[in-house]
Amino acid sequence: MRRAGNVRRAPWAPGCARGKMAEQVPKSVLFVCLGNICRSPIAEAVFRKLVTDQKLSDNWRIDSAATSTYEIGNPPDYRGQSCMKKHGIPMNHIARQVTKEDFATFDYILCMDESNLRDLTRKSNQVKNCRAKIELLGSYDPQNQLIIEDPYYGNESDFEAVYQQCARCCRAFLEKVR
Ligand SMILES: *[C@@H]1O[C@H](CO)[C@@H](O)[C@H](O)[C@H]1NC(C)=O
Repeated sequence: MRRAGNVRRAPWAPGCARGKMAEQVPKSVLFVCLGNICRSPIAEAVFRKLVTDQKLSDNWRIDSAATSTYEIGNPPDYRGQSCMKKHGIPMNHIARQVTKEDFATFDYILCMDESNLRDLTRKSNQVKNCRAKIELLGSYDPQNQLIIEDPYYGNESDFEAVYQQCARCCRAFLEKVR
C-alpha cells in the first residue's frame, strides 16, 4: 500500500501499516490529585481542550483519578465546574481511584503536590510492571510554581489559580511531549 503525505488517523488500527510511524504512536496521561473532584478533573479538561483544539485527540488517551477513596463516584466540585464554564472548557468526569492497571498502561501520571507524589510512588512500588513516568504537573510550569495547592477549603479565586496553573503546565507539557 502506498500513501502520500502525512495521514493523521488512528495509526494503531489493527493491520495498519502507518502504525510504524514513530511520531504517531499514541500517548497517554493520567492527572491525579487527592480526591479527583477539584484539581485533577480541571487538569484533565484543560489538557483535553488543548489536544482537541490542536487536532491531536486521536493521538491521546486522557483521564484523571484520585489517590484516595473519599470522593469515588462524585462529579467535579461545583466551584471547579463554574470555573471551567467561565473559560469555555467542557468538563465531564466521575471521580475514581487510581488502579494498578493505570501504572502499567499510562505513559505519564501527573500529580499536584508532594503528598500525591508520595502516595503514587508508594502505590507504584507495589506494581510489577509500572510503565508510567510519575511527575508533578507543576514541574512543567514556565513560571516555576511547582505545587498546585488543593482549593477544596478555599474560594473561587483558588479555583481560578488552579485553572491558571493547569493551563500553563498543560500547554508546556503538550509542547514538550507531542
Ligand atoms: C478568597 O480568599 C482569599 C484569602 O482567604 C481572599 O483574600 C480573597 O479576597 C477571596 N476571594 C474571593 C473572590 O472571595
